[in-house]
Amino acid sequence: MNYSLSNIKKGKYFLDKHNCIGMPTETVYGLAANAYSNKAVSKIFKLKKRPRNNPLIVHYSCLKMLKRDCIINKNFTKLYYKFCPGPLTFILKLKKDSKVSKLVTNKKKTLAVRFPSHAKAKDLLKILNYPLAAPSANISSRVSPVTKKHVIEEFGKKIKYVLEGGPSKIGLESTIINLTNKPEILRIGSLDISKLSKALKTKLMHRRKTYMKVPGQRSLHYSPGIPLRMNCKKASLDEAFILVKKRNNSYKNFFYLSKNNNLKEAARKLYSILRIIKRKGYKKIAVEKIENKGIGQAINDRLRKASIKNK
Ligand code: TXA
Ligand code: MG
Repeated sequence: MNYSLSNIKKGKYFLDKHNCIGMPTETVYGLAANAYSNKAVSKIFKLKKRPRNNPLIVHYSCLKMLKRDCIINKNFTKLYYKFCPGPLTFILKLKKDSKVSKLVTNKKKTLAVRFPSHAKAKDLLKILNYPLAAPSANISSRVSPVTKKHVIEEFGKKIKYVLEGGPSKIGLESTIINLTNKPEILRIGSLDISKLSKALKTKLMHRRKTYMKVPGQRSLHYSPGIPLRMNCKKASLDEAFILVKKRNNSYKNFFYLSKNNNLKEAARKLYSILRIIKRKGYKKIAVEKIENKGIGQAINDRLRKASIKNK
């Protein structure tokens, strides 16, 4: 291969050969592969140790390409023009003649689609003649990566290439909305539900039981690999204590997501801090109560999933 190629072209080189690469997005890094290729998509499942019944999100550069694979509707159009590209994933009906690999959807008739806004992801998607299936680039159930280094921590030499895109600006996964029926939020994420409700002029709800419709959300998820408890006023000294508001005292087990309760900053830092805590050898984590508003809802959702005791 010619090493004078730009990074984007290097990415394309590996993707065209049905390999997986790490791809930066504004939410988290994805493990990307040609969504039209069974060979490429099966590598994603193998690398991530992801159950085959957990479908993937497909990333598109433009509406034109999406329309070849999915049936769009009025609600989609409203949200697309307001929020895309950005941290929003739509569940749409698949067209019968769609070229998307059956492995992506686990033979379902719906497809999760997203238009990332990260400049590198957009540039890469633009030069490909296929969309990219890309789940978060972590081994299943673990914390999502928000830097190139994190992706390498997960997969090492098992993946051929990771496109450098700096730290993810948002740091939490996209919001998922099902538009195949009456609109419904399936995963709380970095785009506020109230903004979506306003755009659709309908009150959207996220009921926890909707997780049953999202196979990948049922069990332990986003886990740093050690027990985590939430809404804590204090922590023992051998426990990492995650905080969002500055305290008068300072101890070496304190890890601030923000010092002034800035929830956007907290979201951006959450996954990196969980990794740092694990690396430092802590055996458990306590987290201060985080306000359940705006992106705080998504932070709490991830913490709740990370605290499930099923391992
Ligand atoms: O921000 C994001 O969404 C990141 C970046 C890389 O785009 N991706 C991401 O993908 O979080 P993943 O695979 O880690 O999470 C996708 C979730 C899974 O819980 C999966 O079960 C759900 O979307 N999903 C995929 N297709 C679906 C479908 N057709 N119906 C319902 N849920 C679906
Ligand atoms: Mg994931």
